[in-house]
Amino acid sequence: MPRACILGTGSYLPPRVVTNDELSKRLTTSDEWIQQRSGVRERRYVEPGVGPSDLAFEATKRALDMAGLQPSDLDFLILATQTPEHEFPGTACFLQKKLGHFGVAALDVRDQCTGFLYGLSIADAYVRLGMYKRVLVVGAEVHSTGLEFADRGRHITVLFGDGAGAVIVGPADVGQASPPAPAGAGGNARATKDRGILSVHLHADGRFAEELWVPAPGSIYPGRITHKEIDEGLHYPVMNGKAVFKEAVTRMIEVSKEALGANGLTPADVTHFVPHQANLRINEMVAKDLGIPPERCDDSIRKYGNCAAASVPIALDERVRSGAVKPGDIVLMSTFAAGFTWGSAVVRW
Ligand code: UT7
Repeated sequence: MPRACILGTGSYLPPRVVTNDELSKRLTTSDEWIQQRSGVRERRYVEPGVGPSDLAFEATKRALDMAGLQPSDLDFLILATQTPEHEFPGTACFLQKKLGHFGVAALDVRDQCTGFLYGLSIADAYVRLGMYKRVLVVGAEVHSTGLEFADRGRHITVLFGDGAGAVIVGPADVGQASPPAPAGAGGNARATKDRGILSVHLHADGRFAEELWVPAPGSIYPGRITHKEIDEGLHYPVMNGKAVFKEAVTRMIEVSKEALGANGLTPADVTHFVPHQANLRINEMVAKDLGIPPERCDDSIRKYGNCAAASVPIALDERVRSGAVKPGDIVLMSTFAAGFTWGSAVVRW
């Protein structure tokens, strides 16, 4: 079965930068607390009226451009989000409307910060089966419209940001060039024989569904959401931060080892470690346990906060565009999320 590979990457961050000092004016918090506990210095927020499909559209255009493709070349659209634009239809349909490429399948993936890897696994499987040749996987989030700007939710609000990241997945045809690095960035387009998505490992444990969740609106409530739910603040994220932190460290170490073991790799083989960006301290602990040096570990949480399903593809795209990712490099991605869900993927560039 031919391997699937990443033909292009793209990302888009809304221009409005929100610093920790700005948040300190709306909440009882401080730049010092936020940086010490999470590593976040600033994040991006959309302007009113901008939705995840708008961010996904921009990220998709950039990924298509890198791959030398048009929207009409796509066979399948996969969009991962934990902040859907509307209750239904899925945000992938709104993205499709913007792309102007109708008729192909459009799928929403709802596995929170692990959603991008769940989407990547679907793309990988379809491409290897030969069913589709050009699959979009995009993670897109607008958190800023649903955060609680009050002291009760401050431990969550300070973490999240808005953004989107995308990849195009297709068959790794022999002799096909790697995604081009920008001119002068030091990359080269030499084909790598063994390149492609080497593995994706996915997990979930629904016993912990209520450790990190947004209870309302939901079809379980008569009327979906009423004044009662709103008065109780059930439309805001609720998180048992310490439990999530502990489990995230354990599971991300475990699933990263699972990925490396399945491919006969060691941490020394990992050129780029691109973990989900929920907390810098989580990633430092995971990298330290694995024995991956900090300079190989992505820390884009500092600039963008936690962009959930978009964090990994944003970080990947920035590394690719900077020319840091070279043909033959091993990229290890691993995530942990509400659900709980967690996963990992290994790509040889
Ligand atoms: O993306 C999905 C995965 N998500 C995660 O992995 C997040 C995992 N959890 C975390 O990253 C951490 O638990 C947080 C960063 C959310 C919080 O850090 P913590 O060290 O667990 O702090 P805490 O919630 O236990 O709060 C410590 C203190 C409390 O005050 P007292 O009780 O010690 O007086 C909080 O009220 O810090 C207070 N606090 C804050 N102070 C200033 C909580 N949030 C804030 C804040 N600013 N934003």
